[in-house]
Amino acid sequence: MPTDDEGGAIGGNDGTAASTTKRTTVRIVKGGPIVIDGPVEIELDDGTRVCSDRFAVAVCTCRRSKNYPLCDTSHRAKKRSAQSSEDRPADQRDIT
Ligand code: FES
Repeated sequence: MPTDDEGGAIGGNDGTAASTTKRTTVRIVKGGPIVIDGPVEIELDDGTRVCSDRFAVAVCTCRRSKNYPLCDTSHRAKKRSAQSSEDRPADQRDIT
């Protein structure tokens, strides 16, 4: 696991201005979003920018959000079983 002295940091831990700047807290929710202290501006891979002024912003990591890149809790939806409809009991089969 990276430490403060390893890659990924912008700015140094050498007493420069970066070390006196308030750090942003990022929380990784297992199976869910990444929650970042807001306000934030998110830049997508196509250059689109999404702004949020909320005090905490949940960024979708599952790509199921209808409000991507913001989490809409779609990650909580149960995953469909890989089991085919015919293999399930009659009362649990898909209606087509
Ligand atoms: S992480 Fe919540 S909808 Fe994707």
